[in-house]
Amino acid sequence: MKSIVIYFSTTGNTKTAAESIAKKTGSDIEELKAVQNWPTNFDDLAALAQKQRDSNVHPEISSQINLDNYDKIYLGYPTWYEQPPMIINSFFDKFDLENKTVVPFSTSGSSTFEITVPYVYTMVKNKNIKLDDGFRANSEDEITSGLK
Ligand SMILES: Cc1cc2nc3c(=O)[nH]c(=O)nc-3n(C[C@H](O)[C@H](O)[C@H](O)COP(=O)(O)O)c2cc1C
Repeated sequence: MKSIVIYFSTTGNTKTAAESIAKKTGSDIEELKAVQNWPTNFDDLAALAQKQRDSNVHPEISSQINLDNYDKIYLGYPTWYEQPPMIINSFFDKFDLENKTVVPFSTSGSSTFEITVPYVYTMVKNKNIKLDDGFRANSEDEITSGLK
């Protein structure tokens, strides 16, 4: 079986980390895209992110990804307000991940990775998904040690 890196990124940091992880692990890679566009202006993006979080919005995903042949998914996201962006909820809504292993990773300005973990834990709860520890991927060093 194979592994795939699936990432969400609006300003490119998580994309860079995802590409590195794909290269190091020999995984395929796909971007998690939303139907809506993300504002490029920070204040507008922050306002939208906050609104989605506060109203429990799960933004619709436009990416069509066939996960049948993968048993391990590296799932990357930026830390937004000390949690994963709400589109990560949409990811778990949309895709059947039963019996697969999910390895989360995040990039952030300064927050720890661990602060986001309880949210991911809630998303996989009562689903037959194996959630690995995961890691912060702010640098090549963090990626290398996270993949050990
Ligand atoms: C709406 C919003 C909220 C953020 N909240 C946090 C946060 O709580 N802690 C943190 O360390 N960084 C925070 N950041 C910074 C991002 O996590 C960081 O820049 C990340 O690497 C962006 O990833 P991307 O370039 O893949 O989109 C936030 C950024 C945005 C846009």
